[in-house]
Amino acid sequence: MSLLEDLQKLKSEGEKAIEKATRLDQLEKIRITLLGRKGKLTALIKKVSSLPLEERPKAGKVANEIKDFFEKGLGKRKKEIEEAALKKKLKEEVVDLSLPGKLPLVGRPHILNRVIDEITEIFIGLGYEVAEGPEVELDYYNFLALNTPVDHPARSLQDTFYITEGISFGEGLSNQEIKEISSKIALLRTHTSPIQIRVMEKRKPPLFIIAPGRCFRHDVPDATHSPQFHQVEGFAVDQKITLGDLKGTLEVFVKEMFGQERKIRFRPSFFPFTEPSAEVDVSCIICDGRGCRICKESGWLEILGAGMIDPNVFKEVGYDPESVTGFAFGMGVERIAMLKYGINDIRLFFENDLRFLQQF
Ligand code: DAH
Repeated sequence: MSLLEDLQKLKSEGEKAIEKATRLDQLEKIRITLLGRKGKLTALIKKVSSLPLEERPKAGKVANEIKDFFEKGLGKRKKEIEEAALKKKLKEEVVDLSLPGKLPLVGRPHILNRVIDEITEIFIGLGYEVAEGPEVELDYYNFLALNTPVDHPARSLQDTFYITEGISFGEGLSNQEIKEISSKIALLRTHTSPIQIRVMEKRKPPLFIIAPGRCFRHDVPDATHSPQFHQVEGFAVDQKITLGDLKGTLEVFVKEMFGQERKIRFRPSFFPFTEPSAEVDVSCIICDGRGCRICKESGWLEILGAGMIDPNVFKEVGYDPESVTGFAFGMGVERIAMLKYGINDIRLFFENDLRFLQQF
């Protein structure tokens, strides 16, 4: 085969190799194989000088053309590969502005806190101030100072979570001894009423106080019972506060909370710390008093306990029951939230299931 033929063959070989290359490193290898100092074209060019004199110009010219051809081809291919790589990269990194965004989870107050806020806002509007007390409470504040005697069934181990162990009331103790022991027994408060005592022993009337908080009782959880729950306590102490004031106050509250068309009714009841005591019902917010499953056909829903503060409670905090009077009331926050928002299981409040919580 002549040198010219070898050159033509290398040309088409090289052309194909360049076309096939898809990466820059491949292309560089091809360049070296063709045009490098020890490359194939370089080798053929060297042979030109060994041709007969008259054939050299033609062969030299062809060899130079092929060298040119390779250089242009390599350059063109290099550009193509770089452009393809850029395109691919742009395609991969493309931001599709029409895609729906990922919304961050936005936090919100727990439904119970929302209801507590609703209740307290109503009373703040009536001139009340907010007070709080500890969840770990002393027997004295939770029971004794609230006129709840040592043998009262509410103190039973079955209802109350006691924290201190081994302290109990023996037989035949004096009032002073009972008070000392009661002040040593710690428990989880079973209601928010102890806040009455904590405020009254520090301050003088007039007092208009609303006191929300978490409470605990030894209850087996079911749809209407939970060992933790919340109450809002309220009380007013001044001169000449009457049962009429209590009624008027609760009526305003109930209408604000459940709607202006609601009615309230008082039923006689008993609590150690109030005399007289009442349980307060609201006309059923589901059936408007006609009778339904929720109000058990009675037309009424019980929502709170209330009464006139017992003189013994005033004596305990050093007030003169002859000159001050007051009313108090306590309501279950979960019960009110369940009625207002149609929630049928108290356990939902404490399970932290976002599907439930996000509805409010
Ligand atoms: N503390 C009572 C309870 O837990 C509720 C209650 C009733 C509070 C009457 C009061 C009241 O202030 O006057 O069931």
